[in-house]
Amino acid sequence: MTKHRKLPWKSIETKHMLEREELFRALKNLDRRSFLKVSAAALGAVSAKGLLPPHSFQPVSIAHAQPAGGKPEAFTFAYISDSHLYDRKLNDRFVNALLRAVDDVNGMDPQPDFVFYGGDLAQLGQPKELELGAQILKNLKAPLRIMVGEHDWYLDMGDKWRDLFGAPTYSFDHKGVHFVVLNSVVEKDFWTARRLTPMQRMQTVAGLDNGVQSPFSVGAEQRQWLANDLKAVPATKPIVVFSHSPLYKLYKPWNFWTDDAEDVQAILRRFRSVVVFHGHTHQLLTNRIGNIHFHGFLSTAWPWPYAPEGLPRLTIQMGRPDPFNPHDGCGDGSAVIHPDGLADKVYNLWNRNPVNVTRTYMASNGAKDKSPVPNRPSY
Ligand SMILES: [Fe+2]
Ligand SMILES: [Fe+2]
Repeated sequence: MTKHRKLPWKSIETKHMLEREELFRALKNLDRRSFLKVSAAALGAVSAKGLLPPHSFQPVSIAHAQPAGGKPEAFTFAYISDSHLYDRKLNDRFVNALLRAVDDVNGMDPQPDFVFYGGDLAQLGQPKELELGAQILKNLKAPLRIMVGEHDWYLDMGDKWRDLFGAPTYSFDHKGVHFVVLNSVVEKDFWTARRLTPMQRMQTVAGLDNGVQSPFSVGAEQRQWLANDLKAVPATKPIVVFSHSPLYKLYKPWNFWTDDAEDVQAILRRFRSVVVFHGHTHQLLTNRIGNIHFHGFLSTAWPWPYAPEGLPRLTIQMGRPDPFNPHDGCGDGSAVIHPDGLADKVYNLWNRNPVNVTRTYMASNGAKDKSPVPNRPSY
């Protein structure tokens, strides 16, 4: 019998597995210093393999604060969304993607006033997935605000998420802007009559286009909460709403949809300017309905294709991603909120040039300042 001889070199696979193990070992006890080391090593390993071109985060320049006189000043926040983390043993690509987004945002100079996480932190709502996400997001330098997505929620109906992050519905004021965070992925009970287990319920919701689950909604309870929350807010105050699904009806078979969107929009109608930022659709998406401007942001995990019908007219379309490049069509972004309440947004597409959508484009309903379309071919 031949004695097994240890090879004098390590194969690419072995190297990858060793790097991966090291990453996960370090993730177990992640403080700020080890995070920097680990994420730099992970990113270095990826770029050394030629998988990613060098990346630079390019936030738009920030308008200067208004002169004294009580007017609000412009400010920036960054947006990270839809990381869909699996248990660390099953998928490290999505973990690396979130680490990189955190690194990119930490590299912004000046720092954004806060970072908003747009939901679907986990893939199947499992405690380990959510804990891993919370651990990584702790390394953001700027304060974190977070929203729930359907992938975070339907295993235990939000118990673990609430333990980690608090209430899913809340509002706050920042530099003259009123921010509202909604849980827009409320579903009607499709599971009890079918006797589904929690995991079957979660997997059904995660499946999106199975026709079993109900459409997403904000629901009567939160609409009442929203009406009360806005009661004392003057119509001239800029309003920013964060929802996970778009707060309009785009494409029902994929749940790119909020069933009571018109009712929510009606509550927001009296305000001079309203901006809604959402995740969930994993793509460049821009819409305007009356006084409300809607901006979809990218996923760090994967891009969805565009819905086959109903694409809003103002949308600057991203190219069809390269199927041989797992990072194409993914990314994060930032937005500058101006004193008039409108936003300049930047899509930071990881493998392409950033795409800007300006407030003048939105305010003029597409007549002025149309952004150049992404400059790489579709596949
Ligand atoms: Fe998602
Ligand atoms: Fe989602």
